[in-house]
Amino acid sequence: MGCAISGLATKSEFALKDGEEDAAAHPSEEQIQIIKDSWKVIRDDIAKVGIIMFVRLFETHPECKDVFFLFRDVEDLERLRTNRELRAHGLRVMSFIEKSVARLDQPERLEALAVELGKSHYHYNAPPKYYNYVGAEFICAVRPILKEKWTAELEEAWKATFQYVSSLMQQGYQEESLRQRNLTMSPKDRPDKRSTAL
Ligand code: HEM
Repeated sequence: MGCAISGLATKSEFALKDGEEDAAAHPSEEQIQIIKDSWKVIRDDIAKVGIIMFVRLFETHPECKDVFFLFRDVEDLERLRTNRELRAHGLRVMSFIEKSVARLDQPERLEALAVELGKSHYHYNAPPKYYNYVGAEFICAVRPILKEKWTAELEEAWKATFQYVSSLMQQGYQEESLRQRNLTMSPKDRPDKRSTAL
């Protein structure tokens, strides 16, 4: 373990509560450029980073492990380092990060992707208060890979990117949660129906 990140975890504990709006700013042009450059190094190790990131997430926030049907009963986290399913899951998440990096300069496309992912996370029972933990663990996992290329500016840029993606995922989660609530309500109790009846 032993990787202190200020900002992300604190933000998710105190600001990203379910049901609250938290529209994070889009990363700046300079930040996008350094993110893209660093990705060229990180992408050679995506399988490794995916595994480290999730083992660390489960160590630091065991409540996240309970969300995963496949891993919730695994007591010995070291065993997960060689687990095929965790490797596959880590790769799915890393490939999403790769797509996000590629779309940082096309905000509408990134927005559509991340909002949709937030909607699926509603169905995975993974609430927004946990999303920023992933960013913090990602940073801890990639820092040793980038070695002397890691700078305070790069750390800020990755934090801004994860906060941005997390806030879009939160938006999708909330939209889906509202949609589901509307579906289960009887038509006369739906807020949209009540207002049109007036
Ligand atoms: C920035 C944060 C996160 C990103 C980018 C992310 C990304 C992804 C992606 C790409 C998938 C593959 C399936 C799909 O595309 O719908 C996925 C699945 C899933 N995620 Fe996340 N995720 C994040 C945070 C979390 C957190 C914090 C949890 C749990 C507390 C979680 C739980 C799950 C579960 C249960 C699945 C489905 C199981 C599976 O695909 O193996 N996710 N996530």
